[in-house]
Amino acid sequence: MSFTVETAARTAPATVIVGIDGPSGTGKSSTSKAVAAKLGLRYLDTGAQYRAITWWMLVNGVDVQDADAVATAATKPVIVSGTNPSAPTITVDGQDASGPIRTQEVTSAVSVVSAVPEVRALLTELQRGIAATAERGIVVEGRDIGTTVLPDADLKIFLTASAEARAARRSGELKGKEAVDLTATRDALVKRDAADSGRKVSPLAKADDAVEVDTTELTLEQVIECVVTLIESALSRAGQSA
Ligand code: DC
Repeated sequence: MSFTVETAARTAPATVIVGIDGPSGTGKSSTSKAVAAKLGLRYLDTGAQYRAITWWMLVNGVDVQDADAVATAATKPVIVSGTNPSAPTITVDGQDASGPIRTQEVTSAVSVVSAVPEVRALLTELQRGIAATAERGIVVEGRDIGTTVLPDADLKIFLTASAEARAARRSGELKGKEAVDLTATRDALVKRDAADSGRKVSPLAKADDAVEVDTTELTLEQVIECVVTLIESALSRAGQSA
C-alpha cells in the first residue's frame, strides 16, 4: 500500500506558489518572469494591477486624493491579467493597458490609490483567485504577497538592494545622462517606498518566514539562479520537484 502512495506522490505534478516582494528597482519583475518561464509556472505582476486601477481612476476623472471616491469607484473597472511569463498582459475593461500604466502620471498616483483599503481588498481577492487556478503553480510579485495575499506560499522571497543600485537600474535606459537624472530617480523611488511601507493596510514588508536576497552586488542572472535554487530546495524539502 505504501508503494502506491509513494508512487503517486512522486508522479503527481508539482504545484508551487512563490511570492516575491520588495521595493521598486530590486529586479522583482525580471527575476519573477525569468524564474516562472524556467520552471514552467505562471507569473502575476500585482503592481501592474494597482497601476491599472490607478490608470482607470485618472482616465475616468476620479480624484485620486479622495479615498472615499476611489473606494466607491474601485468595483467598476474589470482588470484581467494574462499570466504567461513570456508575454504577460493586462487589460482594463477589455482594453490593453500595458503601455498607459507605465506613464509618470500613473507612477506618481499609484501609491495613494493602492493605500485605499477597498482597492486592496478587491485586488487581493483577484490575486488569490488567479493563484488558486494556476495549474502547475505561479510566481506572484508585489509588496504584500508573503504577508497578506498568499501567507501560505511554498516560498517567500524578499528582494532588497541599495537605493543607489535601484535608481541606477531604473535609470538604465537614460544611460549617459547627467547625475541629476539619477538623483531624481533615486528620490522618487525612496519617496514611493516610504509611502508603500508606511500605509496602514498591508504595507510593503518582509514576511517573518521570507528569505531575504540582497541583489545590490548581483547580476540579474545570479538573482535568477539564486531564486531557482531556493525554489528547488523548498520543493525537495516538500518531497516534490519543479
Ligand atoms: O511594482 P510596481 O512598481 O509596478 O508597483 C506599483 C505600485 O503598486 C507600488 O508603488 C505599490 C503598489 N503595489 C502594492 O501596493 N501592492 C502590491 N502587491 C504591488 C504593488
